[in-house]
Amino acid sequence: MEQRRVYLDHAASAPVLPAAATAMAEVLAMPGNASSAHAEGRALRRVLEDSREQVAAALGARPEEVLLTSGGTEADNLAVTGLVRARQREDARRRRLLVSAVEHPAVLEPARRLAADGVVDLTVLPVDERGRLDVGALEGELARTPGQVALVSLMWANNETGVLQPLDDVVAACAAAGVPVHSDAVQAPATQRVDLAASGLAAVSVSGHKVGAPVGTGALLLRRGTALAPLAVGGGHERGLRPGSSPVALARGLAVALTAAVAERDEVGGRLAALRAELLARAAQQVSDLVVAGGHGLGTSLPGTALLLLPGCDGDALLYLLDARGIAVSTGSACSAGAPTASHVLAAMGVDGDLARGALRVSLGRTSSRADVTALLDALPEVVAAARRARAATAPGPVPGTAGGLRGAAAPTRSRVPARVGG
Ligand SMILES: Cc1ncc(COP(=O)(O)O)c(C=O)c1O
Repeated sequence: MEQRRVYLDHAASAPVLPAAATAMAEVLAMPGNASSAHAEGRALRRVLEDSREQVAAALGARPEEVLLTSGGTEADNLAVTGLVRARQREDARRRRLLVSAVEHPAVLEPARRLAADGVVDLTVLPVDERGRLDVGALEGELARTPGQVALVSLMWANNETGVLQPLDDVVAACAAAGVPVHSDAVQAPATQRVDLAASGLAAVSVSGHKVGAPVGTGALLLRRGTALAPLAVGGGHERGLRPGSSPVALARGLAVALTAAVAERDEVGGRLAALRAELLARAAQQVSDLVVAGGHGLGTSLPGTALLLLPGCDGDALLYLLDARGIAVSTGSACSAGAPTASHVLAAMGVDGDLARGALRVSLGRTSSRADVTALLDALPEVVAAARRARAATAPGPVPGTAGGLRGAAAPTRSRVPARVGG
């Protein structure tokens, strides 16, 4: 009998919504280029602009504020680099770029590249032990160099822990200093209200494959009147800010999936919050010394995402043991060239490097059920015990759940190497 798979990795990628796939197939059957003047081209252009309108309506934006991109990474790169360059064109003194320490590599890497190229002075802002930005530190930086900050970039919700950031406070502080804010909202729209107009943000990145559209779809929402320098140059598509023949079928998939996700957002969010609470409560009973990175907090976290820290385990071992039992989850950090590297998110939160090794991300989505959570809980005690035995065998010493406890086993090492995390 075939094994039932339990998919608990929605933060990496959500299953494609059947309605999105159907709508895309219809567009793929249409010939032509949306920039052509003939009937075929005009028909595609209509689909493209209808899709743009739907994306805008779902995210509190005007259609002309939606730049379609090939996913969240491109939207983040375009925002960070394009906004900095445009701001510097207006005023060359704007040399500073401020980002949080827990950003996704899609923000951190372009920021680092701008610094390495001598374009900006990069400041990586600290977070507290729950992973939330230290707003006081931001205010201090803004006040220290008036007129010199080009951009602040702060994610909406963290992809590893699910922790939500204090964006309203950040937008208020930056507005007072005349500084635009970009937010990577890739993890947010399935359960959070993402509304460009209401947010006060200058730019917001979204990705389709977290809400049921295919990988390779996404958008940068750019508030009207905000100057942006394009990364790519070519034809005049997307107001010249993201040139390239328009992928109309992808735009359609994004629009259909996003519209559906926003329509059921509150219902899904409520359901997932209850499942997550049950998961965390029962997991804590089953596994000794379990820690939830960022805390249990409802209202301070995405309702479907939880990063479990399992002392004495390696996240990779947990992942493979669960995978063999039909359960798909993710580690908090992945291996780089075979060497385990600590998550930069957990390091920024001050989590002990040894504890961070046992990170396991469970992320629920709209198709998740109680049976999925039960399957994980049923497997967890055995899997954790096996992972603890495996690690104890390679690195002898006291292991939590056996003798000596966490402190005896912990060898604090803090790495600032960014993790390559799926999603
Ligand atoms: C917070 C965050 N930002 C950016 C990305 C990149 O998005 P994409 O995979 O669409 O390039 C992801 C997901 O992988 C993410 O979780």
